[in-house]
Amino acid sequence: MDNAAQVARDLPPADAALASAIAGETLRRLPDLDTMIDSATRHRLPDDSKARMVLRLALAQKIGLGTPDHALVATALPLVDGGPRRLVHGVLGTLLRKGVPALDAPGLPEAVEERWRAAWGEEAVQAARRAIAYRPPLDLSFADQAAESEFPEGNSLAPLHRRLEAHGAITMLPGFGDGRWWVQDLAASLPARLVPASANSVLDACAAPGGKTMQLAAAGHEVTALDRSESRLARLTDNLGRTGLRAKTVVADALDWMPEQPFDAVLLDAPCSATGTFRRHPEVLYRARPAIIEQGADLQARLLARAAGWVRPGGSLVYAVCSLEPQEGEERIEAFLGEQADFHLERAPLLVDGVTPHERGWLRVLPGMLESQGGLDGFFTAHLVRKA
Ligand SMILES: C[S@@+](CC[C@H](N)C(=O)[O-])C[C@H]1O[C@@H](n2cnc3c(N)ncnc32)[C@H](O)[C@@H]1O
Repeated sequence: MDNAAQVARDLPPADAALASAIAGETLRRLPDLDTMIDSATRHRLPDDSKARMVLRLALAQKIGLGTPDHALVATALPLVDGGPRRLVHGVLGTLLRKGVPALDAPGLPEAVEERWRAAWGEEAVQAARRAIAYRPPLDLSFADQAAESEFPEGNSLAPLHRRLEAHGAITMLPGFGDGRWWVQDLAASLPARLVPASANSVLDACAAPGGKTMQLAAAGHEVTALDRSESRLARLTDNLGRTGLRAKTVVADALDWMPEQPFDAVLLDAPCSATGTFRRHPEVLYRARPAIIEQGADLQARLLARAAGWVRPGGSLVYAVCSLEPQEGEERIEAFLGEQADFHLERAPLLVDGVTPHERGWLRVLPGMLESQGGLDGFFTAHLVRKA
């Protein structure tokens, strides 16, 4: 654990929540905050200088959390005591007097914009800018129809789904203790919806913390949930305990595990860059460098090849990534089909109004889809069927 993570762990919960909110609001708008800071300094402050860091945090609190000016100044200056205090005071004062803009469609990191513009077009980049400015709504998945119809709040955009716009602590929402629902972005609920109802045995091959395992178990499949991380699998077991759903759990590396017999269906929710989750986790945009995406694509190809061998003839392989990178989605599936002649792509049905299946048959969720209803995480999922 690095120092920052240790410090965050030792903070009282309210302080940890505030620190996380400030960091999140900063990362949502980093390039624009830097432009603003540069507009008020004669010499460009180094990217990793304390002065720039403190100014970013102060401006992000103003824009994202509505913190009053006097509180911003009072909390920023002690951070640079004995250092660039006068500089920070001067720059912050200048910017606050000028008026800080709302930044409701801030720029993404330049490399990300270029990549997504090339892959998805300008409209998707503009939609991503609008999406990153705000924390997204909360999506809940329900174990069954009765649980959903008893839930008092929210809009349903698909069966067994409700969306809440504003909410307090998740544990305080009605029915949390009864385990009738769990938190899951609507886009992340799509892969399990592609698993045929007729499949009896289903392997969830990268299962933890278990959102899709719970959907599969709730749908009546006999689920084996595999993950190589023991601690993440412990969270999955907790989640199953809370919801009263059942699955067999296996701690193993999918790259060398072998089942005793093939499954009717395998769901592979592969580890990936997670760039589709940028609305909740803006930091992913700074982590997902091209080399990381390439390494991810290589791992996904190896996992797909393994998972293909565990599907019985006539069975299904559902592949998913919460990524907006074509190398981890479309390109993986096209390469897989080029190598595995006994699999074909099954056309996905329309599962959510506004997420039209691609002409190749997969589902590609992009920024801008369902925007007026709160949007969706970026996502890719495809249903492959093995020849009988
Ligand atoms: C995208 S997350 C899965 C999310 C999960 N399906 C859900 O809906 O809650 C990917 C998971 O893959 C696991 N993983 C990564 N490499 C693996 C491997 N080689 N074998 C098994 N699990 C692996 C990680 O521990 C992580 O829990």
